[in-house]
Amino acid sequence: MKVVVTGAKGQLGTDLVHLLANQGYEVYGYGREELDITNSDQVKQVTSEVRPDVVIHTAAYTKVDLAESEPDQAFLINAYGTRNVAAASEAVGAKLVYISTDYVFDGMATTPYNEFTPTNPLSVYGKSKLAGEQFVRDLHSKFFIVRTSWVYGKHGDNFVKTMLKLAKERDELMVVNDQIGCPTYTVDLANCILQLIQTEKYGVYHVSNSGHCSWYEFAKAIFEEADIEVKVNPCTTKEFPRPAPRPMYSVFEHMALRLNGFKVMPNWRDSLRIFLRSI
Ligand SMILES: NC(=O)c1ccc[n+]([C@@H]2O[C@H](COP(=O)([O-])OP(=O)(O)OC[C@H]3O[C@@H](n4cnc5c(N)ncnc54)[C@H](OP(=O)(O)O)[C@@H]3O)[C@@H](O)[C@H]2O)c1
Repeated sequence: MKVVVTGAKGQLGTDLVHLLANQGYEVYGYGREELDITNSDQVKQVTSEVRPDVVIHTAAYTKVDLAESEPDQAFLINAYGTRNVAAASEAVGAKLVYISTDYVFDGMATTPYNEFTPTNPLSVYGKSKLAGEQFVRDLHSKFFIVRTSWVYGKHGDNFVKTMLKLAKERDELMVVNDQIGCPTYTVDLANCILQLIQTEKYGVYHVSNSGHCSWYEFAKAIFEEADIEVKVNPCTTKEFPRPAPRPMYSVFEHMALRLNGFKVMPNWRDSLRIFLRSI
């Protein structure tokens, strides 16, 4: 099976390319330099040359706070870039996996979000990713929209690495305790995507590690698992203002995985432990 991965140098893209290659797939991983998704001619050319069976579209504008002051960039990449990938992959008959986000929800719920809950993004980033979802639905006939959240892995910047770095510089940290979500280890996410692409069970999937926590609880767990002494103090979102509004509660229910017979996602704390041992 031939698989094209966009955003192949990002944190998810890098792990996906490794995993697919290890499993014997013919992988074509393209970073922004080789395949700029905002260039529709280039996207068409690459897909018509490779003629993949599957396109896994991980490339995105992911700077959530900066997006508030750069909405054109966010929409150009996340909405129109995704349109280009969707149209080109449909034209060659490839299945499409589009990676989306928990930020399509407003976080006002008090019970986990399933795949049929109406969306209502708060931030420019969330709106631009949802616009990408809409292009996928409009232009593609064999798609998986995989919404994920709080992603971390070996490659690239993420919350786990930031915490480990800050712990080297400070004895005490303040971490937000009133935003609740689901951490996701890139390797678990990549393994789940690998299961999906082998099927024709198209649709929207919520894919995160199972269980949930606040950022404060996540930080505490990181230091406990890494055996690092640092005092972590809980604070509120109001005490730690950021340019982009974030959902206060974005816990996923994995209803689509469950009802379609896919494996249960590992618990977030178990995966965190595995990740920390691997680095
Ligand atoms: N990280 C999270 O917590 C999180 C949560 C929910 C959903 N997601 C989604 O998951 C996917 C993977 O995220 P990630 O954490 O792996 O992101 P990432 O590390 O930021 O990787 C995204 C990659 O896309 C590339 N890219 C940006 N603009 C591009 C363009 N015009 N053409 C081609 N490539 C371009 C980036 O390259 P440059 O470095 O050159 O910009 C980067 O390598 C994204 O779709 C993201 O929206 C992430």
